[in-house]
Amino acid sequence: MHDDDEQVIRLEDYRPTDFLIHEVDLLVCLFEGRAEVRAALTVERRPGSPEAASLSLDGDELTLTSLALDGERLPEGSYEVSPEALTLHGLPASGRFTLSIGTTLEPEKNTKLMGLYRTRGVWCTQCEAEGFRRITYFLDRPDVLATYRVRIEAPRAAAPVLLANGNPVESGPLEGGRHFALWHDPHPKPSYLFALVAGDLDVLKDDFTTAGGRKVDLAIYTEKGLSARSVYAMDALKRSMAWDERRFGREYDLDVFNIVAVSDFNMGAMENKGLNVFNHKYVLLDPDTATDGDYAGVETVIAHEYFHNWTGNRITCRDWFQLCLKEGLTVYRDQEFTADERSRAVKRIASVQLLKSQQFPEDQGPLQHPVRPTRYREINNFYTATVYDKGAELVRMIATILGPERFRAGMDLYFERHDGEAATIEDFLLCFEEAGGRSLERFRLWYAQAGTPTLSVRETYADGRLTLSLSQRLARGAAGTGTEPMHMPVRFGLVGSNGADMEAVPRAEGAKAEDGIIHLLEEKGEVVFEGLPERPLVSILRDFSAPVTLDFPQSREDRLALARLDPDAFGRWRALADLVGETLADAGRTGFSPADAAPVLQAVAAGAADEALEPSLRAQMAALPGEGEIARLVGQDVDPGRVHRARIAAMAELGRIGGESFARLLAEGAGEPFSPAPDSVGRRALRNTILAFVSLAAGDASRAERQFAGATNMTDRLAALAVLAHHFPREAATRKALERFHDTYAGDDLVLDKWFMLQASAAHEDALADVERLAAHPAFKLANPNRARALIGGFASANPLAFHRPDGAGYRFVARMLTELDRLNPQTAARLATAFRSWRSLEPGRRELAAQTLRAIAQGKQISRDLKDIVDRSLQ
Ligand code: ARG
Ligand code: ZN
Repeated sequence: MHDDDEQVIRLEDYRPTDFLIHEVDLLVCLFEGRAEVRAALTVERRPGSPEAASLSLDGDELTLTSLALDGERLPEGSYEVSPEALTLHGLPASGRFTLSIGTTLEPEKNTKLMGLYRTRGVWCTQCEAEGFRRITYFLDRPDVLATYRVRIEAPRAAAPVLLANGNPVESGPLEGGRHFALWHDPHPKPSYLFALVAGDLDVLKDDFTTAGGRKVDLAIYTEKGLSARSVYAMDALKRSMAWDERRFGREYDLDVFNIVAVSDFNMGAMENKGLNVFNHKYVLLDPDTATDGDYAGVETVIAHEYFHNWTGNRITCRDWFQLCLKEGLTVYRDQEFTADERSRAVKRIASVQLLKSQQFPEDQGPLQHPVRPTRYREINNFYTATVYDKGAELVRMIATILGPERFRAGMDLYFERHDGEAATIEDFLLCFEEAGGRSLERFRLWYAQAGTPTLSVRETYADGRLTLSLSQRLARGAAGTGTEPMHMPVRFGLVGSNGADMEAVPRAEGAKAEDGIIHLLEEKGEVVFEGLPERPLVSILRDFSAPVTLDFPQSREDRLALARLDPDAFGRWRALADLVGETLADAGRTGFSPADAAPVLQAVAAGAADEALEPSLRAQMAALPGEGEIARLVGQDVDPGRVHRARIAAMAELGRIGGESFARLLAEGAGEPFSPAPDSVGRRALRNTILAFVSLAAGDASRAERQFAGATNMTDRLAALAVLAHHFPREAATRKALERFHDTYAGDDLVLDKWFMLQASAAHEDALADVERLAAHPAFKLANPNRARALIGGFASANPLAFHRPDGAGYRFVARMLTELDRLNPQTAARLATAFRSWRSLEPGRRELAAQTLRAIAQGKQISRDLKDIVDRSLQ
């Protein structure tokens, strides 16, 4: 990003507005083909701001139809208007005045899915980050907080349900088959939290009584005929409400909480005050159509959006640079919710896997940016794994550094001090410094310095004395931010040969060690333990207590022993996962060697078979890293074809090593009835992981065929179909199974997405031809983000073998699709374009082809700012 570029928004340019908007009175009249909006804004010049200052309201593709100040039409020359701005001069120097603004919209033509749009006949809105300016002219920024009163008028037949933020006030009939509803939200909020929905929807109702005795009516709205599929989402919502009271003392603050599930949605979901709008993928479930992964996704997203009511809505962000203030914190909260509701170790491992596979490549490539960026051209491109997931890691480190009581005290202080405000990261950190009684000076750098630091650990042992030498290093990357040493909390344990942690009081220099945590604050530090009864196994970075790359040349024997013995479940997984990662990275460079890999794969098979572990953890021990993750570990001059072959060879070898014990595991569980309970989920995950190994080892699709035919739930059915499609693409049985799956679920969009995704991600020689054929399938709809993500995303991000074809045809196909999608929905096109982000680590031939493709996209005539920003930064 060039700093002198005029389009760049910079953190250091932040200024408060010259005007305040106290109240928003909206009238939204919905008709077939158009919507008329009248906004009455109660405005006041901010005390102390210059009397000459004009008021410039944001717009985006807007048409102004009327304008008045305190009921009087404004004279020519006192304002300027364009689709992007409405600027008013000579406004009153003091006192409140009312600005009435009329606009006309065409929701049916809104394919960007930002602002007011229509999906399957349902009117709905998405305003974060800058969608409200597509509805009316406004100070569309998060530090302008107003109360909203919203009246919706619509045809009763098309829209019997009329919803907006806050509490319902009044509703009734109008002439001509129309009706209205009036809503009032008493909590001042920024415009990005505005929402309205109007449509013919089914509803599932329930209620929840808060600790303070407020009875809240809960409702989940879905498209017709689908409300039976929102039962689990409702259960997750009630558990989230109870958990936030228990764990953080946070109660809900309106009389109603509504959720609406829609088919066309750019992201996962949106936390609009009292009216969450969801991608229906994160609401609708039943065992026949959804996998265990979908259940986990629904629970997480329902919780996440609910938790935003306090972390995001009651306390919002001063500006979009502070996005991690609400997103990192809310991801941390939803992770903790799942950890408390299910298994802490299993959740932590899943979060770390996600961080490594999604955030690490971002942090190590051209799209690198700090958790709190200081510049952007298009804010929608900063809803990233770095802001969300690394942002959550930073909050987790604060909790680790302070300990649970002081962390909770810091959160309490934050809620108390900033309720009703638009806050910054500095505000947030100050609460923890005050409540925790310690400086976070060396810690706050994590928000400003981009990149994954390397933590190096060296151990020496003699005569009962263990020395751990630690050092940290941060290389300067694409973001060009600082490389100072940061406060790194390193959890550890010293494991004895009996499999128990030793008691050991350390001496430390340049580092502090207390309660099983080494605090590395400088570039280097040393910790010495004396009087040890034997040489311990060093279990380092337990809980992944800092988001770093670990450089610890621990012997293979020690790590294999830790994978068996570490009393910390996460430690067992990490020791094994690191060994597996190194083994596969070596294989991805020079080819798979069964002899080299044998001890590690034996440990994997042993982990899978260890009945002392809960089933989900066994499944995690058994899983091999994906091809993308292996490529990242290979590092340079990656040949994705070789990585693919190495991984397949390892899977087959693992199937041979697992032999009898895997066969027994598969036989034992067959026929187990479905339940979404963790143990049942874990057993399915374990069996389905093993199914692929065993089928590859035998070179035999028949087990998968039988499982597909006999499956009683989508998890088992889809896992079997995946084994067929990925590993036996040419067998007649595979073709038949894919057809049968399609015909059974042809009317079900969420299942059809899986069908597209599965084929798009199947790695084989004809994959590109298959995907091109699917792009012409009558059910393929580029305008539907879930479908576009399933096909284009499935191919570009989940099928490295085919996407990175050595002839570049995979790149060119994706470029064609993105250019077409960009004209409809720039935000989704830009998101999918991040599949190119690791192009520089490819071997020279593919590297050049990928760069050519990116340059060709950038030169497209009508390229959007969203897509151009991603492509330009990828190339820089
Ligand atoms: N705040 C939402 C969430 O994380 C995400 C909305 C992002 N939307 C967007 N258009 N960038 O829960
Ligand atoms: Zn969020």
